[in-house]
Amino acid sequence: MQSANNFIRLNDLIASGQLRGKRVFIRADLNVPQDDSGNITEDTRIKASVPAIRAASEAGAMVMVTSHLGRPVEGDFKPADSLAPVAVRLSELLGQPVALKSDWIDGAGLEQLQPGQVVLLENCRLNLGEKKNSDVLAQKMAALCDIYVNDAFGTAHRAEASTYGIARYAKTACAGPLLAAELDALGKALHAPKRPLLAIVAGSKVSSKLTILKSLADKVDHLIVGGGIANTFMLASGIKVGKSLVETDLVAQARAIIDMMAARGAQVPIPVDVVCAKQFASDAVATVKAVGQVDDDDMILDIGPKTAALFAAQIAGAGTIVWNGPVGVFEFDQFAHGTESLALAIAASPAFSIAGGGDTLAAIAKYNIADKIGYISTGGGAFLEFLEGKTLPAVEILLQRA
Ligand code: 3PG
Repeated sequence: MQSANNFIRLNDLIASGQLRGKRVFIRADLNVPQDDSGNITEDTRIKASVPAIRAASEAGAMVMVTSHLGRPVEGDFKPADSLAPVAVRLSELLGQPVALKSDWIDGAGLEQLQPGQVVLLENCRLNLGEKKNSDVLAQKMAALCDIYVNDAFGTAHRAEASTYGIARYAKTACAGPLLAAELDALGKALHAPKRPLLAIVAGSKVSSKLTILKSLADKVDHLIVGGGIANTFMLASGIKVGKSLVETDLVAQARAIIDMMAARGAQVPIPVDVVCAKQFASDAVATVKAVGQVDDDDMILDIGPKTAALFAAQIAGAGTIVWNGPVGVFEFDQFAHGTESLALAIAASPAFSIAGGGDTLAAIAKYNIADKIGYISTGGGAFLEFLEGKTLPAVEILLQRA
């Protein structure tokens, strides 16, 4: 876990009047989901980025904001990669115009920025060298500003030119309020959590979350797994899962996690019933089955009601809850009950709850429980890496610069 957060903070620079007339470059994480027509479907990250932008603008700075959107090919602009819809939403939320600037690396057009104005710099992952943290690119970006602000917690696990390199070369490099708040809140909650500590880790693949599962297996009292991850754990417990999404090559690893936890009196509760379908489709017929009755042509797409009740009871008795991932295909209503009952149980639990990850945010929004979660992180991968105890590169460089 990250050590003391002794980086320079944007709010301190503002309080001491250091932003007036300065060129401020804010790296935010405005990577939001969009539908096929480019409409933003979930804007938590944009909303969470507003306080830093507004504070810098009100403090009299010329504000440049950038973010990545998706994973475009560097140097190969496609309309779908554009931050244009984000500029519109940001402008609505800020209540002031936010122009979108393309080809901004050499600063052309940026010299006209006035104090209080905000400009959005087009998708920074289109710049050649961003991903590989090119020194040349980092120096060019640093030359655009007097103060670099990293407020992108969701991208803090990436050492890229706009999250890492620029912080080395900027005259001043500091943490924005969102980055600082995330690190403070997550660090505090996980440093000495109230027990029992319960983690819910769900998603399609064990392989993508193996490190976090192993790391949590060592720390938590209960580890609820869901989605495709649970299928692999069921297989590891000798339960047939039909043609469900499963990673047979990771069954031994799943078994090792179950054994490791059992050895210290902790548990990975395995579902007792599941919701199955014959195909993965929005109109697929859902059938509740006891785990022993899953047929060879069944796909498990949710936990069953008995399992949901068991998990809800564990959630009710927890001291701290960490939640990442829905336990079923909650986009389809007939497979959403498991995720819904977990969400409602977390909302009703007196435990301090921390939630993070894109699908988790979508589930929180769907069941309208945002105000009942102790802390909602804007991070997906960054949230998981923080929980694993890894040093986040974007934070490490800010600590160095302090
Ligand atoms: C995320 O969505 O988790 C962050 O924006 C980071 O995106 P990335 O995984 O493409 O780096």
